[in-house]
Amino acid sequence: MFDLEKIYSKNASNMRKSVIRELLKLTQQPDIISFAGGLPAPETFPVEDLRQAADRVFTNSPMKALQYGTTEGDAELKAELIKFEQRQGMKLGADNLLIVSASQQALDMMPKIFLDPGDYVIAGRPTYVGTIQAIQSYQGKILGIPFSPENDGFDLVELEKRYERARRDGRRIKYIYVIPDFQNPSGICWSLAKRKALLEFAYRENLLIVEDAPYREIRFIGEHIPSLYLLDQAGEDRGIVINLKTFSKILIPGARVGWIIARPEIIGKLVIAKQAMDLCTNVFTQCWLAEYLKTGKIYEVIEKTCGLYRDKRNHMVKMFEKHMPKRWDLTWTEPEGGLFLWISLPKYIDTDQMIHKAVAEKVAYVVGSAFYFDQPEHNAMRINFSYSSMGKIEEGVKRLAKVITAEIDAHEAGPRGQTSVEGV
Ligand SMILES: Cc1ncc(COP(=O)(O)O)c(C=O)c1O
Repeated sequence: MFDLEKIYSKNASNMRKSVIRELLKLTQQPDIISFAGGLPAPETFPVEDLRQAADRVFTNSPMKALQYGTTEGDAELKAELIKFEQRQGMKLGADNLLIVSASQQALDMMPKIFLDPGDYVIAGRPTYVGTIQAIQSYQGKILGIPFSPENDGFDLVELEKRYERARRDGRRIKYIYVIPDFQNPSGICWSLAKRKALLEFAYRENLLIVEDAPYREIRFIGEHIPSLYLLDQAGEDRGIVINLKTFSKILIPGARVGWIIARPEIIGKLVIAKQAMDLCTNVFTQCWLAEYLKTGKIYEVIEKTCGLYRDKRNHMVKMFEKHMPKRWDLTWTEPEGGLFLWISLPKYIDTDQMIHKAVAEKVAYVVGSAFYFDQPEHNAMRINFSYSSMGKIEEGVKRLAKVITAEIDAHEAGPRGQTSVEGV
């Protein structure tokens, strides 16, 4: 057999497995309490309403739904999405939209159309692992920017400093990637001031912004803050923001449908890129979702989902307060939306190592290092609160607290103690 490694393209050689998807396989054993995946709560899926919408598609427009469709996306679904976005103040035409196979496809298309090998994207440290994977698979690089101590967006001083240095070193920077609403993994929500400042920075430096917003509607505390897309549109309207949306967290992830919002020239280029990828997004699913959206029931689903996640998040925070060792160097975020808590542990705890002990205790999380492009932080973890039941949240946090306590005790006991923890 010949050596496949010699045949794979440079792009393929740069592809990295998703640590999260690998972990998901590990955690699918029934007795594990998994806080690892970013799974929505299945009890929020409006099964009966979706079934009826599918029936209507088969009854009213089966020939259209079962045929090839346009790459741009189904016109009826776009019309519904325009109404959906209008409720947040966005003014869109059909040529501002491209329907995609959920946000992950959109994330793959960004480096595909904007990056040459070695080009840079500015992104947070940490950032969403699926974005890192996509950028790497096109031989792109990431200029990582830390978040401010206030957790309200990038540290702007660091942004200027690192950007200047990169420019001086001759690096080509193409776009800024951000998740302003309840970032995955950190849960950080950007303040209005930071959003405006980032927009000013992008205007000044002639950079595009890719605003990934899968959690935008999943705010369960406080007031919505305008998206970067809206701030640009309602302000200077330079059309530099590309907004990525998806049904995954607000309705169902299994549909694999999302939408890209951008100015028409960018949509045009993306359409060409998508033609080579899949010709068009699943037509039946688009018709089905359009039919469902016409009922207006998605707003009730979102409201119910936010209420449920608020309760689960509050319960998880309470369980952390109850069961975790009380120390200054063991902290967790208390996000106002989204699906995750971000846990920082004492520096000497390596969550990559600890995951095996956690799985032995039948609890799982995502290792913090997965969210770094380079020089990962090893003493952090991402915890999902949307998927598990209230009872499992308590039991899972207890198990996790036991594992973490054992790590701390072993460290404090010195090398002899560390040996004894191996059996945990
Ligand atoms: C920040 C972010 N972007 C994109 C995605 C991909 O979502 P999907 O492809 O299901 O729309 C996710 C999934 O968890 C995410 O957290």
